[in-house]
Amino acid sequence: MTTAIILAAGMGTRMNSSLPKVLHPIGGKAMVHHVIDLAQTIQMDQVIVVASPYLDQNKLKSDRLIDVVVQEDPKGTGDAVRVALSAVADDEQDILILSGDVPLIEFETLQPLFEKRQSCPHDLLVLAMRVDDPRQYGRLITDGDVVSEIVEFKDATPEQRDINLCNAGVYLAPVKILRQLIPQLSAENAAGELYLTDCIALSQENGFTARYVETPAPETLNGVNNRVELAQAEQIMQKRWRQRMMLSGVTLLDPDSVYFSHDTIIGKDTIIHPHVTFGCGVIIGNDVTVLPFCHMAQCAVNAGASIGPFAHLRTGAVIGEQAAVGNFVEIKDTTLGAKAKVKHLSYLGNAEIGARANIGAGTITCNYDGFNKSPTYVGEDAFVGSNTSLVAPVQIGEGAIVAAGSVITDNVPEHSLGIARQQQTNKPVWAKNFRTTASELKKQKG
Ligand code: UD1
Ligand code: MG
Repeated sequence: MTTAIILAAGMGTRMNSSLPKVLHPIGGKAMVHHVIDLAQTIQMDQVIVVASPYLDQNKLKSDRLIDVVVQEDPKGTGDAVRVALSAVADDEQDILILSGDVPLIEFETLQPLFEKRQSCPHDLLVLAMRVDDPRQYGRLITDGDVVSEIVEFKDATPEQRDINLCNAGVYLAPVKILRQLIPQLSAENAAGELYLTDCIALSQENGFTARYVETPAPETLNGVNNRVELAQAEQIMQKRWRQRMMLSGVTLLDPDSVYFSHDTIIGKDTIIHPHVTFGCGVIIGNDVTVLPFCHMAQCAVNAGASIGPFAHLRTGAVIGEQAAVGNFVEIKDTTLGAKAKVKHLSYLGNAEIGARANIGAGTITCNYDGFNKSPTYVGEDAFVGSNTSLVAPVQIGEGAIVAAGSVITDNVPEHSLGIARQQQTNKPVWAKNFRTTASELKKQKG
């Protein structure tokens, strides 16, 4: 039996943010949620998150089955574990300690820790990483695979700072060891905090052994303490997702310029051109083409459709099979039927567009009166001429044609022509006479 404790109550002062550090997103998902979701994927028996009183518990839980304990005063990682232990019922189990600010961690990263547990069933295990840039991580003082001490950066001597074997902030420890050692922690250190890492030196004094196991993938253990590290973590995550997308059958013409969210789903043989960003909640089918410079979020694109360049698909946009959305088109809360086209300079909001309908350049659904949103319906095979305003609520019947430049305020019956613009009048020779008179007047004025 194993319980995960996720430390997430720190002040995160180095972020310089009004948002608690662990709620800063990576790929659209809060850092702490990446860690909670991993703990649940590996089927921990219980997941306890240590939160600060300032962390909105609804945001923290966001439908996840976790236990939250509040650390009233962030006195350090050791104190955070002390608070969490109050929620651990069974003393005959292991505790996996994770940090809410180490969000790139994967199951494979943890595996060496669980493997080590097989051969060392009674020890305190530390996950270590050997890194080129040891930043401000705690440094491991070792003898073979035994760790005698973890020295925090602030307390380390210059020689100790040269050590590149670092503490990842991930541990596997029997509850009983933690219960015995945590009360012995002292805040006599550079930060004036109760360091969890001091449990390592204490373990020897108490007759326990602390051992480390090195991860083969140190980049998955990057800690995030400031915005520079946040950006680095985002880059590592994006790289991971790009590789997964490509290996699953999606073509990315310029992978480094495409940004995914944690939940982006894309079908096989879809081609993504450069500079495309997927916000949360996007599902793309097979054989779709996404041309450059598109942004999408909370939307679905069905098989064979073509999107962009420069398209903006917003919440509730559903693009039908083989439909085409072209440049400078914004779509929100709208269903575009199969093979329908909206290829240039349009806004469609709260609309339902039938199959094969053609929405001309510059068509705007006037869906909002400042108070309410109203729907627009365009039937199958209808043709809406360029520069049309569809003032909702309004319906264009199946097979109807709307004349270019119309401001449509009334329904257009099926197979009819709707025309709503002023009658044109032509005045013969008027332009020629105007020019003659105007140029003579200008000459007279000198
Ligand atoms: C910690 C480790 C360091 C390790 C690094 C790995 C300690 C003393 N140091 O340093 O050895 O290399 O992580 O990323 O443990 N937290 C609480 N309550 C508190 C303080 C912190 O819940 O009172 C949480 C934070 O929200 C964070 C995690 O614990 O998620 C780690 O705290 P942080 O202050 O970031 O520690 P580091 O300086 O990164
Ligand atoms: Mg940290």
